[in-house]
Amino acid sequence: MSKTYTIRTYNNIAARGLDRFPAGRFKVGADVTSPDAILLRSHKLGVGDLPAGVQAIARAGAGVNNVPVERCTERGIVVFNTPGANANSVKELVLTAMLLASRDIYGGLQFVSTLGGIDDPAELDRVVEAEKKRFAGRELVGKALGVVGLGAIGSLVARAALDLGMDVLGYDPAISVDAAWRLPSEVQRMENLQSLFARADYVTLHVPLLDETRGMINAESLNAFRPGSVLLNFAREPIVDGAALKAALDSGRLAKYVADFPIAGLIGHPKVLLTPHLGASTEEAEENCAVMAANQLVNFLETGSITNSVNFPSVSLEASSGFRLAVVNRNVPGMLGQMTTLLAERGINVVDMLNKSRGNIAYNLIDLGEAPDAGLLEAIKRVDDVVDVRVIGT
Ligand SMILES: NC(=O)c1ccc[n+]([C@@H]2O[C@H](COP(=O)([O-])OP(=O)(O)OC[C@H]3O[C@@H](n4cnc5c(N)ncnc54)[C@H](O)[C@@H]3O)[C@@H](O)[C@H]2O)c1
Repeated sequence: MSKTYTIRTYNNIAARGLDRFPAGRFKVGADVTSPDAILLRSHKLGVGDLPAGVQAIARAGAGVNNVPVERCTERGIVVFNTPGANANSVKELVLTAMLLASRDIYGGLQFVSTLGGIDDPAELDRVVEAEKKRFAGRELVGKALGVVGLGAIGSLVARAALDLGMDVLGYDPAISVDAAWRLPSEVQRMENLQSLFARADYVTLHVPLLDETRGMINAESLNAFRPGSVLLNFAREPIVDGAALKAALDSGRLAKYVADFPIAGLIGHPKVLLTPHLGASTEEAEENCAVMAANQLVNFLETGSITNSVNFPSVSLEASSGFRLAVVNRNVPGMLGQMTTLLAERGINVVDMLNKSRGNIAYNLIDLGEAPDAGLLEAIKRVDDVVDVRVIGT
């Protein structure tokens, strides 16, 4: 009979995510004790909240600040996140922001809300026709959008902007192979940021906050922007230097700044539109995160494969026998040899295997010609620098 895996949940996990755990093969809930894995959203997990036996933790979301990742790695616990699960949600807000920056929809709505006292339709019509020129805008078609960072969100924004008839310029010196495959061929690759700023009517930022990207938009870079251009920041606030931004808005270098992060000193500025970090705030994004996190846990527990881990390598090995060992060890020389020697001593054939490392940790999937006995598992566990061993498929 196959094993029933146990998942301890924290926070409310979207039902569509919980549905991914096949009933009968998984027991899932906030009341699970001795879990094989933990599934959470923002609950802060202390080092003391890692019961013995936990093999994996999945965070339904991008950041893992609420998980003690270093301690997990030492214990051989795989930590997953769900990159890109909220990308469409952010993309739609960026498109909204670009439209709000181009047509004075916000000013127009505010104006109309002041007209409630006019009951005469002819008078209402007269006021609207007389005042509407104050809210005239420009179209996006034919304008150039510069996308800085072409990962999950940037690539979706680029595709949508092409569909709107814009010219799209992209800059991402560290683009992953997967992201490059996803990118439409019409996106024009820029060799440096200065050239992108010089050509773009709109610039949208989709890079992570790192030492290299903090203050990436500063006085010097803003000088390279086209006069009257629009800057959109739905990545992280500190990527844009606040003082330089204010100066560029006041001088007219920037026509508008639209961002997802209220900044003291810029709230109420006539050229600034700020939303309260709404990028990922959709029902669908929450569901996508839960579904992705749950799928990754099911796949890991039932096959040993690892996708989207923040501390382990990506690993996928098609099953070639019914008996698989998953071994975590510290990344030191000679480990594989010691393990295969133990197997050879027992006359057990290795049908297939995969060994990958990341930093100080290595992970092995070993498909065996026959079921391993408890003695073999104990012997592997006793090898110096082996952190954890488990059997999958028996
Ligand atoms: N507003 C929100 O609510 C919200 C929601 C989700 C994500 N975000 C932010 O958006 C960022 C991007 O998210 P994503 O899912 O697209 O991430 P991602 O990891 O898929 O893509 C980031 C891309 O930026 C590129 N990059 C890194 N440094 C760069 C640099 N110096 N110049 C140009 N490109 C560089 C990377 O190569 C990668 O392709 C996140 O890091 C996060 O900070 C905001």
